[in-house]
Amino acid sequence: MKNTSVTDVQVVSLPKIHAESGNITAINSSCEVNFIIKRCYYLYDVPGGTARGGHAHKELHQLIVAASGSFDVVIDDSENRKTIRLNQPHKGIYLPPGLWRELDNFSAGSICLVLASAKYDEKDYIRDYPKFIAYKQA
Ligand code: TYD
Repeated sequence: MKNTSVTDVQVVSLPKIHAESGNITAINSSCEVNFIIKRCYYLYDVPGGTARGGHAHKELHQLIVAASGSFDVVIDDSENRKTIRLNQPHKGIYLPPGLWRELDNFSAGSICLVLASAKYDEKDYIRDYPKFIAYKQA
């Protein structure tokens, strides 16, 4: 899926079950996300203010959530670039395949939760930006 653009990225409002004792947000496969969830991973202990995660995926669908704290998700489709700040655990970004993404400006102690449509597969990655541009324009 290489013909995706930044306009295909969606900010998703996730349900919040509110209680004085603490809130709950649940994300079900093929329900709050439009793909089958095969993997969950999370980034933590990221030093405040730093950036990481410059890469693209050829087939992977992802939902990115700031489970704690905040960070910027920078998305690039080779022609346009868009930055969305995540700072609420009941807000997510649906990221379709074929887009370059970077994670910037982590607040100290933040947790970046990612739900993904496939298990880890290094072959699905494009880690080099010029190669990403070539992939999009091929
Ligand atoms: P990576 O996705 O490359 O993160 P970033 O682009 O932010 O540096 O992952 C970093 C390393 O972690 C990489 O060597 C592969 C490994 N990894 C797994 O083994 N399984 C996973 O599900 C993920 C996301 C990464």
